[in-house]
Amino acid sequence: MKRMKIVAAVTVLLSVGFFVNLTLAESEGIIKYRQNVMKTNGGHMGAIMDILKNRLPLEAHVLDHARSIQQNSKMTLEMFPKGSGFGDTKAKPAIWENWSKFESAAKAFVRESAELAKVAESGDMKAFAKQFRATGKTCGSCHKNFRKKD
Ligand code: HEC
Repeated sequence: MKRMKIVAAVTVLLSVGFFVNLTLAESEGIIKYRQNVMKTNGGHMGAIMDILKNRLPLEAHVLDHARSIQQNSKMTLEMFPKGSGFGDTKAKPAIWENWSKFESAAKAFVRESAELAKVAESGDMKAFAKQFRATGKTCGSCHKNFRKKD
């Protein structure tokens, strides 16, 4: 029994040491990085919105914007290592407290943006507009749960 407790204690210590392994400077570096990547998500989504809303004769561009978002989506989880919640960030601690839920949110983003790129390839703008909204929802629902308002 006592042995079990020691093993448990050592395991906890090791995992704490293993996971909280970013210095403040490292944490701040990755925070800036992920905010920049997120800004490009916002830029591409905004650009698509401009094309759709203003019926710009640039429909051929939506494929590249969609592909860029899809590429970005695959980076999401790696941009939030444990210990990167300290500094000038809006990331909520809930990310690391509830990692599997965050993971699902990131996977939904990967899935819907892959579909967005696929629909863009088809050239069906009506279907594209619908999938654009579905993709936007994955941004919004992750932000709702995991990003601080202000
Ligand atoms: C799995 C969760 C998740 C998904 C999906 C997600 N985001 Fe984010 N996003 C975040 C978190 C968390 C932050 C706060 C990051 C920080 O401050 O460290 C953020 C920050 C941002 C920011 C602010 C960046 C800055 O200047 O600080 C923008 C813009 C943004 N996201 C846009 C998007 C768009 C657009 C999408 C979808 C195409 C998207 N995000 C998908 C979690 C997500």
